[in-house]
Amino acid sequence: VQRPGSGEDGIRHTACQTVGGSKTNINKAAFSRSHCDTIRNRKNALKKYCFSDPFGLISQYKNILPKKSIYHGGIAMQKLEKLYEGKAKQVFATNDPEIVMVHYKDDATAFNGLKKGTIAGKGVINNQMSNRLMAYLEKQGIPTHFVKELSERETLVKKVSIVPLEVIVRNIAAGSFSKHYGVEEGVVFEQPTIEFSYKNDELGDPLLNTYHALALKLATPEEIKTIEDYSFRINDALKAFWLTCGVTLVDFKLEFGRLSDGTIVLADEISPDTSRLWDSKTHEKLDKDRFRRDLGGVEGAYAEVMQR
Ligand code: TMP
Ligand code: ASP
Repeated sequence: VQRPGSGEDGIRHTACQTVGGSKTNINKAAFSRSHCDTIRNRKNALKKYCFSDPFGLISQYKNILPKKSIYHGGIAMQKLEKLYEGKAKQVFATNDPEIVMVHYKDDATAFNGLKKGTIAGKGVINNQMSNRLMAYLEKQGIPTHFVKELSERETLVKKVSIVPLEVIVRNIAAGSFSKHYGVEEGVVFEQPTIEFSYKNDELGDPLLNTYHALALKLATPEEIKTIEDYSFRINDALKAFWLTCGVTLVDFKLEFGRLSDGTIVLADEISPDTSRLWDSKTHEKLDKDRFRRDLGGVEGAYAEVMQR
């Protein structure tokens, strides 16, 4: 959104906002949109020209150029060393020991990394969608790791130690549930169901029950109770949210972490990588199953569900 008269192109222009409602407003919105497009095109051309680095100066001197500062709560945050790289994200330290920076990649894997690929633009969508959903959940009283979105792919989050449990909540039979228990995909449960797997790539994330989790000392009984309680509340909130977008929340996977004081917060991401999202009317899959099952239209599905 361009503020009135603030254009870097030197042209005074009015705010570009989508205006809903009456016919006149729709025309106004269409005009504003095309006006925005013109300005955006000019800006992009300018950016391309300015940042094309024709003499290779930026790459030559990038190590001695001052690093761009990102401010959070009035403090300049620095992106420091990489702490961890997973299948879809990288995590960097910052100068605040309680905060890390997540970078979302376009890399996609399935079947414990056996199938590899990229989904163009996925990192941008997952970053923005996960942040919006976490902000929404915070408003519903669920503590999350989300702090601040920095860019299309980067977000500041609270540093946690991940509880090595993948929590899966299901409303409708699909995926491994259908396979394990011989239930046709699409059968709606009378009440949501929850399951845990041990977050351990070497073992292939085996399913376990809460007694196993206690025996393996993955979490305390109180932590498991909190995680279960949050997970069902998250399901209620997300199901209601997606319904307003014409999307049915079939199932999803959550991960929780401990802050330095031991508080349990929702961590990792909530995205089409980690949720099954079906069009409510057509039941078309708008999630990573399109990649897992080679259904095609993967990028389109991510874009569609983000737009909704
Ligand atoms: P499943 O039916 O294959 O067990 O998947 C259940 C949900 O968990 C589904 O929404 C996809 C998500 N999921 C992940 O986020 N990560 C994984 O590694 C797997 C296997 C599933
Ligand atoms: N996280 C899975 C993997 O291990 C992918 C999936 O979501 O199915 O590759």
